[in-house]
Order: sequence, then C-alpha cells, then structure tokens
Amino acid sequence: MRTSILLSHAHSPLKSVMVTSVLPSEGKTTVAVQLAIAHAQQNNKTLLIDCDLRRPGVHLKLGVTPKSGLAAALRNGLSWRDKLLRIKNVPNLTVLPAGPSFQGCDALIGGNLKHILAAAEPEYDLIVIDSPPMLGFSEPLQMAAAVGGVVVVAVPGATDRHATSQVLASLRRLRVNVLGLVLNEVSAATTDGYYDDRYSRRFYRYYRQEHKARGV
Ligand SMILES: Nc1ncnc2c1ncn2[C@@H]1O[C@H](COP(=O)(O)OP(=O)(O)OP(=O)(O)O)[C@@H](O)[C@H]1O
Ligand SMILES: [Mg+2]
Repeated sequence: MRTSILLSHAHSPLKSVMVTSVLPSEGKTTVAVQLAIAHAQQNNKTLLIDCDLRRPGVHLKLGVTPKSGLAAALRNGLSWRDKLLRIKNVPNLTVLPAGPSFQGCDALIGGNLKHILAAAEPEYDLIVIDSPPMLGFSEPLQMAAAVGGVVVVAVPGATDRHATSQVLASLRRLRVNVLGLVLNEVSAATTDGYYDDRYSRRFYRYYRQEHKARGV
C-alpha cells in the first residue's frame, strides 16, 4: 500500500494522506498506524495525526497515554508542536495524538486541518491522518478536501457497497484525490484466490528454489 501510494505520485510527491472509511470499526486506525510505521521504517520523516476526535485510537494502538494533543491545540490557537510524541523503536515516526477532548472539538478540526498541514508539510516527508467515518459526520469531508489524497478502508462482505459508492461520489464531487479503496480483513473466502494461501506457498517455494539455485 505504501509503495502504490508513492508510485501513484512519483512526479509530485504526496505530502498528506487521510485514512477513512464509510462506517465505524472498518480498520481506519489500524491501516493509518501501519502505513505511518511502514513509511517511517523506510527512513522517511513521518507524522501521524489522530484527527478522530470522536473515537481516538492511535494512542491505544501505539501504547502511549498522551496528556494533551490535537483537541487542546484546536482550543489554544493551534499550538500543536509541543504535543508531539516520539515512538520508541520507530525513530522517524512522530505522532500528534488526539489527547483529551472537549465538547465541540470535533467541529473545529474540519476548518483547521489545512492550517496544521500547511505548517507541518515542509517538515515531514509524509503526514498520515486518521479520521472519523465518512457517513453521518461532516468534518471528514472537510478534512478530505484539505489533504493530498484519501484512502477509504472497506471490509469485503461487510461494508455496504451502495454506501461506499455514495461516499466515493461525494468525495469526487469535492474534487478530492481518492487514492483508492483498501480492502481490510481479506481472507481466501473474500478474494478471487490470487493471494490465497495455496498461491502464496507456491510463490514462496518458487523463490526459495531460485535463491538456492543462485547460492543465496
Ligand atoms: N486486518 C485486521 N485483522 C484483524 N483485526 C483487525 C484488522 N483490522 C482491524 N482489526 C481490528 O478491528 C477493530 C477495529 O479496528 P480499528 O480500530 O482500526 O477500526 P476503526 O475504523 O479505526 O474504528 P473506529 O471507527 O472505532 O475508529 C480493532 O480491534 C482492530 O484491532
Ligand atoms: Mg479509529
């Protein structure tokens, strides 16, 4: 996923990616955190922002307990730099957690994300943004319009196709750069078998034989 996102913008590097989904609990936070870690591990300065002020989850995935974060920054004139956290064992990853929220803070992110990105983009290779689900809330659409690209996480067999196409149509109407749909929780039963277990074992055996033949 990291590679396909970067390859799709080989000529003008993408500076910010928002991860969203149609409904709750489809894997936005999991995908955003893993994408940010994968990008940081390739020696790229990466900032991960938890913009899901309704149900923040980045800090839980990374095992940190932030005292403050984005919500406080939205209240205090966007001073977000003093709320950044570094993550042990992932040297190039910096996190702006959501932090303790206050009533109405979710309404402030839509209009302010563009200011935070404008200040942060020159300092990072990529900014990954975790967000609330698209259906039923207005701020994810505003946020989507402020970022370089959006990926929509969907669970095959669970995410409603009609709702997904409605969300994709709304994003396209706003001329949002939809990078693609990420299929989460894919198993042999939900794919055409291209990446199923049998195939990957055959693929692995083939490369092991090649390596042995070359003495690697
Ligand atoms: N590919 C996966 N395999 C197994 N479990 C997964 C996978 N993706 C997500 N999960 C689990 O599903 C649950 C929901 O995932 P996650 O928190 O990433 O979703 P979310 O879309 O961010 O949810 P929310 O709408 O509450 O923010 C978590 O317990 C997570 O660990
Ligand atoms: Mg989440």
